[in-house]
Amino acid sequence: MKQHLVTRWLAMAMALALSLTSPALYADPGRTPLRAENGMVSSTSRLASDVGADILRKGGNAVDAAVATAFALAVTWPSAGNIGGGGFMVYHGEDGHTTTFDFREKAPLAATERMYINEDGEVENNHRSLLSVGVPGTVAGMYKAHQELGQLPWALLVQPAIDLARNGIPITWALYSGFQRNQSYWEEYPSSGEVFLKQDGSQYELGDTWYQPDLAATLELIRDHGHDGFYRGENAQRLARFMEDNGGIITEEDLARYEAIEREPIRSTYRGYEIIGMPPPSSGGVTMAQMFNILEGFDLAEMGHNSADYLHVLTEAMRRAYANRAEHLGDADFNPDMPLERLLSKDYAATLRASIDMDQASESEPMDFANRYESEDTTHYSVVDSEGNMVSVTYTLEQSYGSRIVAGGGGYLLNNEMGDFNPFPGDTNESGRIGTPPNLIAPEKRMLSSMSPTIVALDGKPLMAIGSPGGRTIINTTMQVILNVIDHDMNVAEAIESPRIHHQWLPDVTSFENWGFSPDTIRLYEDKGHELRRRGTQGSAMGVYHSPETGLYLGGADSRSGDSAVVGY
Ligand code: DON
Repeated sequence: MKQHLVTRWLAMAMALALSLTSPALYADPGRTPLRAENGMVSSTSRLASDVGADILRKGGNAVDAAVATAFALAVTWPSAGNIGGGGFMVYHGEDGHTTTFDFREKAPLAATERMYINEDGEVENNHRSLLSVGVPGTVAGMYKAHQELGQLPWALLVQPAIDLARNGIPITWALYSGFQRNQSYWEEYPSSGEVFLKQDGSQYELGDTWYQPDLAATLELIRDHGHDGFYRGENAQRLARFMEDNGGIITEEDLARYEAIEREPIRSTYRGYEIIGMPPPSSGGVTMAQMFNILEGFDLAEMGHNSADYLHVLTEAMRRAYANRAEHLGDADFNPDMPLERLLSKDYAATLRASIDMDQASESEPMDFANRYESEDTTHYSVVDSEGNMVSVTYTLEQSYGSRIVAGGGGYLLNNEMGDFNPFPGDTNESGRIGTPPNLIAPEKRMLSSMSPTIVALDGKPLMAIGSPGGRTIINTTMQVILNVIDHDMNVAEAIESPRIHHQWLPDVTSFENWGFSPDTIRLYEDKGHELRRRGTQGSAMGVYHSPETGLYLGGADSRSGDSAVVGY
């Protein structure tokens, strides 16, 4: 898919000239979208959105901007932005080409199915210690996406992150409070203290400048050597040594074997729109498609946005799709027999729809697909370029700040993504454990994810790129934003800001954003037999939209997240 070299350089030259004349446009989070003509990036960090938008202004395409934004977020948003984690990218070109890149972490070669079960039969360390770390995928994913679809030189895309790390960034409230919350970890792990505490061991204060020289040096290796800068040589040796010295199991061989995978997207349709989603090992594309298929049979616009009836059918669709998710989904490379065709079919959705009673909540029978709630520190960003090409990326360290362990000397945090595997074969219970086979641990297997970077298309053209953090809530957050645009006629920023709910089969409880629903609605909804749990916020969606009417781009950044902003030009 590479453009011819001459075309590329011409495009670059033209865009460079444009970048000298057109200043960046900014929008803070809120219900008013940023409107821009040429391209935009929406992310959870203003500094990172700025880096991505600047790459667009310099003639980069959406993939170039996405790569630069990923590395920038690794510097400016350390709770989830990363080079020590993994995630997914969905691409939809203006020319109709669609693809996805899977850079999900893998279990190390030495991993075993029961590695987290201790002598007392309890699960231990699946989210903690170096044993919780999956083989990171982010650098491989960015490199592969760039190889396939990028336009500007790789080094140019990594350099802005290096500059941010070397020149320092301000400690915002989001960073300050995140560092505070994890203080005990910085004290427990000396390599993390070197990054997250000042040299004298004291805490960073709001407004301080934070320098990350070790991370800058690692990024320089990546700038100069691409994929191999992370997976071979100095960084790989240092990481493997750190693992060996501190009880971890990731080896140089694990790193050398890691490859990102280009995969066919999950495609479904909803009221004439096409939904391009992430396939397994993400559960997002399949689960969302199933919910859309169920909901297509209801007149949601007529029910009214966030009316009790609307919330009821949403809940019932969620209940059914999440049960299927828990039962069937895992890494496709280890589960060749997943019934994807059935799960995605409109006929199957119709049978599920037929089992919905408009007056009465169904029961989530404890058929043992239980769940747990997850924190919200993954991060999503969306990009559109001057051609209309869109990129949707969600990536993560799993929990906020991942394992909280910085790879000694490398300056970057390691994920604790191994916690996304089912840790206890066969043991599934309502208190939060799933033991179904598709997502049990195996060497080199990718753990099941809920991350759902998504692109909505109309008439073969990308219309909206959207996604969110939030563990299992991700799929429901992303779906509700899309429903808000398609069924409720909201612009992308309104759609993102609107209050949302989450149900995940088990536990059989619906969580509500506690600021967003009237007591009357809640009473009507509860009268149908639903149990409620209030929560502060759900997810943090970042989206861009290409208006078919005006041709303008509209961007929304979620106010639920600390430093978010849309930047365009
Ligand atoms: O891949 C997943 O589904 C989770 N590891 C995502 C983590 C997440 O969104 C929770 N936030 N911290």
